[in-house]
Amino acid sequence: MKKVLTIALMVLVCVWTSAQKADDLALTPPMGWNSWNTFGTNINEHLVKDIADAFVDLGLKDAGFEYLVLDDGWMAMERDENYNLVADPVKFPNGMKSVVDYVHSKGLKFGIYNCAGSKTCAGYPGSRGFEYQDAKLYAEWGVDFLKYDWCNTENLNAKGAYQTMRDALHATGRPIIFSICEWGDNEPWKWGEEMGHMWRVTGDIINCWDCTVGHGTWSSLGVWPIIKLRKDIRKHTGPGHWNDFDMMEVGNGMTVAEDRVHFAMWSMLASPLIMGNDLRSASKETIEILTNKEVIEVNQDKLGIQAYCHSDEGDIEIWAKPLNDGEWAFAFINMSDKAIDLNHDWAWHPVKDDLSNRSLEVNNKVYKVRDLYSHKDLGLTKTKLKGTIGAHDVLMLRLIPTE
Ligand code: GAL
Repeated sequence: MKKVLTIALMVLVCVWTSAQKADDLALTPPMGWNSWNTFGTNINEHLVKDIADAFVDLGLKDAGFEYLVLDDGWMAMERDENYNLVADPVKFPNGMKSVVDYVHSKGLKFGIYNCAGSKTCAGYPGSRGFEYQDAKLYAEWGVDFLKYDWCNTENLNAKGAYQTMRDALHATGRPIIFSICEWGDNEPWKWGEEMGHMWRVTGDIINCWDCTVGHGTWSSLGVWPIIKLRKDIRKHTGPGHWNDFDMMEVGNGMTVAEDRVHFAMWSMLASPLIMGNDLRSASKETIEILTNKEVIEVNQDKLGIQAYCHSDEGDIEIWAKPLNDGEWAFAFINMSDKAIDLNHDWAWHPVKDDLSNRSLEVNNKVYKVRDLYSHKDLGLTKTKLKGTIGAHDVLMLRLIPTE
C-alpha cells in the first residue's frame, strides 16, 4: 500500500512539475537588448562581446538592463548528425557556449531565439519536433531567456505549441524566461500567463512615430499604431506575465523628443524594455534616455499596472499609471508638430483607474510633482501645472503623496 501511495505521489509530482513555467522570473518587466532591429541576421561573436562591454561601460547594466538576446540568424543551416542545433561556425567560430560564458562574465544574462515552426522566419532550423532536445541544449549552454517565434507553423495550435516549449524548458530545471512571439495573432494575452513570461502583442515595430508599412501578408507598425492597437488589453499584464510592445527603436532614427516619448510610453505600459539599437555608436542623448533611472523606476514598479489613456482631447494626450504606495506616473504627450503651452489644474481633472480601483486623491491629499526627464521638482498638485511641451515630446511626471 505504502509503495502504491509513493508511486501515486511521484506521478502527481511529475504531472504538477511538468506543467509550469519557471516561477519568480520577470516579476517586473524584463530589461535587455536584442539584435534584430538593427542587425537582422548579420550577427557574430565580436558583436555580442562589444555589446556586452557597452552594456557595462555605458551604465546600462547599472540602470537595470540585464538580458543580451541574440535573435534570428545565429544558427548553421542544418542540425548536426545528432540533430542538435549548431551555431554558425563562421559567425561564432568558438561555439555558442563561449559566447554565453562571456556575457555571463560581465554579470549579464543571455537570451537566444528560435521558432515553433519547422524553420525560423529567416529560414534556419526551427524547433518543431525538437523542443525537448533544443531546450536541453540551451540549458547546457547556460541560456537564461528564449524568444520563441511563430513562422512556418502550418496546422500548429499556438497555445499547444507554446505549452510544449514551456514544458521542455521547465524539464531542464534551469530558470529560463520564455518570451512568446506570435505577433498577437492568437490573442496570447488570453492564455500567455500560463505559458510564458511575456508575449508580443503586434507584428514587428518600425522606427517611426505614426506609420504602418505593409509587407504583403503583414505590416510593421510605428510607435503609436502599436500603442493604439493594444491599449485595451491592460488587464492581462502583471508581475510574471507581460504584454510585450516589441523591442524598442530608441536611437534608431526618430527625433530625440520622439525617442523620449517612445521610452516613456513603453515604461508607462509596463512593457519589457528591450533595446534594439547599436549600443557601440549610440549618441549621448540616446544613452541619456535609456539610462534614465527615474523613468525606468516607473516601468519597474512592482504593481505592474499598464497605463491607460486618461484623456486625449486636442493635441495633448494624458496617460496615467498607478504606482505602488499610492504614487502615480503621468505622461503628457504633445501629439502635434508644434510646441504647446500646458496649463493643467489637477483639481479639475479627477483621475480614477477603474481596473485597479485606484484614484488620485488631489482633493484630499497633496502630491509632490516630479519631472522625470528634467529631474526637477515642479511643485505641488495644489498649484496648476504650467510649462511648454515641444512637438512630439513628453512631460513625464511622478506624483508622490506628501503625507
Ligand atoms: C519576426 C519577429 C521579429 C524577429 C524576426 C526574426 O517574426 O517578430 O522580432 O524575431 O521574426 O526573423
